[in-house]
Amino acid sequence: MHKHFTIAGWLIIILLALEQVACQQTADPATDTKPVEGVETITYKDPLRPTDERVDDLLGRMSVEEKIGQMTLVEKNSINKEDITDLAIGGLLSGGGGYPSNNSPEGWLEMVTGFQEYALQSRLGIPLLYGVDAVHGHNNVVEAVIFPHNIGLGATRNPELVEQIGRSTAASVAATGVTWNFAPTVTVPQDIRWGRTYEGYSENTELVTELGAAYLRGLQGDDLAATDTVLATAKHYLGDGGTAFGSSTQEIIKPYLLDQGDTKVDEETLRMIHLPPYEAAVAAGARSIMASFSSWNGTKVHADQFLLTDLLKDELGFAGFIVSDWGAIDQIDPDYYQAVVSAINAGVDMNMVPYDYRLFVETLEEAVKNGDVSQERINDAVRRILTVKFELGLFENPYSDERQLVKVGSEENRDLAQEAVSQSLVLLKNEGEVLPIGEESTVIFVGGQAADDIGIQSGGWTIEWQGKDGDITPGTTILAAIEATVPENTAVYFDSTGSLDRIQSAGGGKLEPDVCIGVVGERPYAEGVGDSADLALPANDLKTLENMEANCETLAVILLSGRPVIISDLIEGWDGLVAAWLPGTEGQGVVDVLFGHQPFRGKLPYTWPRSIDQLPFDFEHMGTGDESPLFPFGFGLE
Ligand code: GLC
Repeated sequence: MHKHFTIAGWLIIILLALEQVACQQTADPATDTKPVEGVETITYKDPLRPTDERVDDLLGRMSVEEKIGQMTLVEKNSINKEDITDLAIGGLLSGGGGYPSNNSPEGWLEMVTGFQEYALQSRLGIPLLYGVDAVHGHNNVVEAVIFPHNIGLGATRNPELVEQIGRSTAASVAATGVTWNFAPTVTVPQDIRWGRTYEGYSENTELVTELGAAYLRGLQGDDLAATDTVLATAKHYLGDGGTAFGSSTQEIIKPYLLDQGDTKVDEETLRMIHLPPYEAAVAAGARSIMASFSSWNGTKVHADQFLLTDLLKDELGFAGFIVSDWGAIDQIDPDYYQAVVSAINAGVDMNMVPYDYRLFVETLEEAVKNGDVSQERINDAVRRILTVKFELGLFENPYSDERQLVKVGSEENRDLAQEAVSQSLVLLKNEGEVLPIGEESTVIFVGGQAADDIGIQSGGWTIEWQGKDGDITPGTTILAAIEATVPENTAVYFDSTGSLDRIQSAGGGKLEPDVCIGVVGERPYAEGVGDSADLALPANDLKTLENMEANCETLAVILLSGRPVIISDLIEGWDGLVAAWLPGTEGQGVVDVLFGHQPFRGKLPYTWPRSIDQLPFDFEHMGTGDESPLFPFGFGLE
């Protein structure tokens, strides 16, 4: 072989050698993160340079069009992938339920990776941010552990637990390539008729402040560039939980009552009730804050320069970026050009565009050409966004490591969620010490559709935006947990309507349950779709409870709800009552407490009204006697 090596062969070797040298000189630093020896690395691509130098260098290379592209966050179902490259789109998101056709951790990683590839092919190779609402676990993803919603975490009063849940959620989210979580919601709901009450930890500002900061620290960890941490977003700034009943003009699926309405309070009240969680979030390292759909005294927050710039950026010193809510800019003014100019000049840095992103990009480009939006404002917004991208280490690690996928749905996460559920349960009534259920109860009757329904026990923001009843994702229902927990000699009977007829007719003769467990509650909802004028339990649950009271000597009721509901006329017929909120997939956590394997520790995070007419509460002047609440804030039997 050696002897007959032809001239062509030697030529090929020489060409390969030359190509190798040439390749090194034009190595694309976008993917080659190690500075090449002796080659001038482009500043913004050099991880060894200070972040502000990298930002300045990159900003200096960008066209106005590319800068505006970075200010654009697009719902993934609306994007034309080539536009990610051509328009230098800054971010994509999955709105509630925005899962890939293969809704599994692997399917998510594949989807997000696919989008990122298009971003890295852009002229300057600026990586995408990809955002989701992982508000109680990585909740759009089938197989993920669904944690208790924030109302349940509020009942635990446990910031260490909440921080751990943030850490766990971040690891699952990051494992699927997602780098941004639109959480924590640090709203301070003042009227529980609001459909987003359960997204709030509490009506109490101090409790929200403490738990919101804990969750944010959990999500971002000690190193925002680590592969198992994500960018957090404190939301929705400012006063989203203080809107007046009936002040909403929004309608999605049904007319809203409070959500996206008008917060009619003076500045002192706004600062006292709603601002502290954001001061704590900024201090805890928040790098992104979402503006609220709602208004303050008639002005849309998204157009309120005092709130967004003077108060948040200047007074609180928030140096991250403000992202709009879902098409919220469009609500500012029927003239879209005016709406965009108002929002960007007020201080919105990134626009969450559910659909027509080209219209947004063209409109803002026109506004800059006309001088209605200054270059300085654009540069300020893009500087904030790029700074966060460098801090996240996106330029060095734009992709996730698929070996992390095992964390999604892991036993470790399920155990943590189960513990959180146990700590969240609040014992409200316990006549005759019916709870915990002892081993002497060998015939147990369980009633209610909600006893055997993962979707109901998870609530909204689970797989689908609005959530959905039924067997929507792997988990343990309360009934399954009861059956797994009771001793061998105990029989468990179940009927979703609470009737014994079908059981007795099975030739078992008259059933005399030692104890009955009725599981009832709200059906899943999200946002304004959950706004309620009466806080009533569903009719079929009322029927179930009637059936059970007729058949049971001893009845313990487990209430699954996103907020306190009106039960004053019903509670007399119940021996025991437990508020279990929206516990998520780990129903075992409920049963551990019902059967005494865990103590009752939860305390009410919201005041429980005696009647709907008491709302909205004046917390400074609570009524007495019949005007008093049914259960006060902080109540909970041990
Ligand atoms: C929704 C919510 C917001 C969420 C966003 C993206 O409308 O208001 O909390 O982060 O849109 O899903």
